[in-house]
Amino acid sequence: MCGIVGAIAQRNVSDILLEGLKRLEYRGYDSAGMALIDEPGKGISTIKTVGKVANLVEAANKKRASGNLGIAHTRWATHGKITRANAHPHGSSGRVSLVHNGIIENHEPLRQELTAAGYRFATQTDTEVIAHLIHQALENGEASLLQAVSAATARLQGAYGLCVIDRQQPDRIVVARCGMSLVIGDGIGGENFVASDPLALGQVTDRFIYLEEGDLAELTSESIEVWNGGRRVKREIATLSGKAAEMEKGAYQHFMQKEIFEQPQAIRDTLSGRVSEEKVLEEAFGVSAGKIFDKVKQVQIVACGTSFHAGLVAKYWLESIARMPCQVDIASDYRYRDIIVQSGTLFVAVSQSGETADTLAALRYASAHNRKHVATLAICNVATSSLVRESDFCLLTMAGQEIGVASTKAFTTQLTLLLILAIVLGRRNGLASEDEARLVRDMNGLPDLVDKTLQLDKEIRKLSKQFSDKHHSLFLGRGIQYPVAKEGALKLKEISYIHAEAYPAGELKHGPLALVDSDMPVIVVAPNNDLLDKLRSNLSEVSARGGKLYVFADEGIGLESDRSCKVINLPGCPEVLDPILFTVPLQLLSYHAAIIKGTDIDHPRNLAKSVTVE
Ligand code: F6R
Repeated sequence: MCGIVGAIAQRNVSDILLEGLKRLEYRGYDSAGMALIDEPGKGISTIKTVGKVANLVEAANKKRASGNLGIAHTRWATHGKITRANAHPHGSSGRVSLVHNGIIENHEPLRQELTAAGYRFATQTDTEVIAHLIHQALENGEASLLQAVSAATARLQGAYGLCVIDRQQPDRIVVARCGMSLVIGDGIGGENFVASDPLALGQVTDRFIYLEEGDLAELTSESIEVWNGGRRVKREIATLSGKAAEMEKGAYQHFMQKEIFEQPQAIRDTLSGRVSEEKVLEEAFGVSAGKIFDKVKQVQIVACGTSFHAGLVAKYWLESIARMPCQVDIASDYRYRDIIVQSGTLFVAVSQSGETADTLAALRYASAHNRKHVATLAICNVATSSLVRESDFCLLTMAGQEIGVASTKAFTTQLTLLLILAIVLGRRNGLASEDEARLVRDMNGLPDLVDKTLQLDKEIRKLSKQFSDKHHSLFLGRGIQYPVAKEGALKLKEISYIHAEAYPAGELKHGPLALVDSDMPVIVVAPNNDLLDKLRSNLSEVSARGGKLYVFADEGIGLESDRSCKVINLPGCPEVLDPILFTVPLQLLSYHAAIIKGTDIDHPRNLAKSVTVE
């Protein structure tokens, strides 16, 4: 979603800001803007455009934008339409300019109050009230920009990552964090930076300070000072590296494609250090994890979107391997429920980004009930994310940066870790060591099996042509494959815009069968398990009604293609790995269907990579 970049240096920073915005494009946005102060006394120059960052670059080149101090933003509309005026930065009286990530919940009463005080609003955004509040504080005698931002933010309810400049104090940027992540980039020799994601600053520094909740910071070209609760605080500098290569597509056409093909390595990296040849290495969960696991009697998983589907798969593993009850909830629902927490519950939040607003809120809600929860565990792909920092302990997926908006390698690595979690909990609940050894051996073979499955790419590309004129589709799976079908349907709809619905195959005759005709492709995942015979009956139900079946089947079941059924065989695999392996061809199908439909695969319409607002 929205992205922030800021820079202060002894050189022109406009290219740094624009490059930073380009690096944040993956988060999803609809307009972009930049404000610069060139020479003291010359005023703030602002450029904004609707659409891609490339439009802003063009406008900036035309204007020969330059300045030693600047802020920039990609906006994902929440309050007010997608217009140039509503794009950030927003200003007040030509003096203050700011960019904002997040949502100000009490913007309406503040707008009325500020209007009564004589401020004229130029936008429909919630953000503009902040600019006027800061201006008002400065005009009312707050000596420094830092003090004015502090006074203004004290009036705000909601979430914000803010980056503010003042024409009359053109040697500093003030930033504030509440509920949205912000990171300061420590530059070399007279320059400093700020961004909502360190990725935006990879070209200028690898040294970062992660701001904490409630932090205010003042950056000059020579100094970084952080304040919290009115007191100066010290924040550690972390060094990050190796990000640059992940930003390149290399030989691939899209990041999504690259990330699908990175899955064998991502799973290998996720297993590394977590399992030996035949055992899960429990220490990988942290020193105190063993004692926590001893107390767990059931598991509560909370997540959104694709990560939620990972949780749904994990429920089956936790039941069958750990013999533990497991509840899985969508975070946006869980956070508002009157939850009943059974003692001995382990709370697990699953998230690629670790910044998803609803998942974070659910974690905070669960923490407020922590007398009953044994602990909170984050399964996450971003070590420095808010979710990881706010959980009692974490297990990181080692998927590497995921840039394509549609989540792929994050999902399969989440599943890898959730299976490991089921094994460590199972150990305490009767899982024999020889069963653990078999499961771990199976897991160690997973990267090669995924590799083999990826070789179906060509065949799936050919098959996807049959989706060129399709507008609707059904995905079917039974048992643990139902969440896999849901994930396949989500992938297809989000990047190809083909309407896709997933059903447990046994539900077919309870309604969805009415939809089946020759225009409705029915995509089925058919592993070699106890439910196979039942699934075969479901396939017959579809063929009998003229439906066209596309079945991804375990090669061992001997299903053959005919006029109404196209079968694509997957390499045989241990049953426990089915959900991970069967996800891969569905990712490829949606990718190739989207190519045929000609959509913007890495930036599908209306979607953002990191959903940091509710
Ligand atoms: C779908 C997708 C989304 C995310 C969801 C949660 O491809 O990417 O459904 O899974 O927005 O995001 P995280 O996992 O970052 O919490």
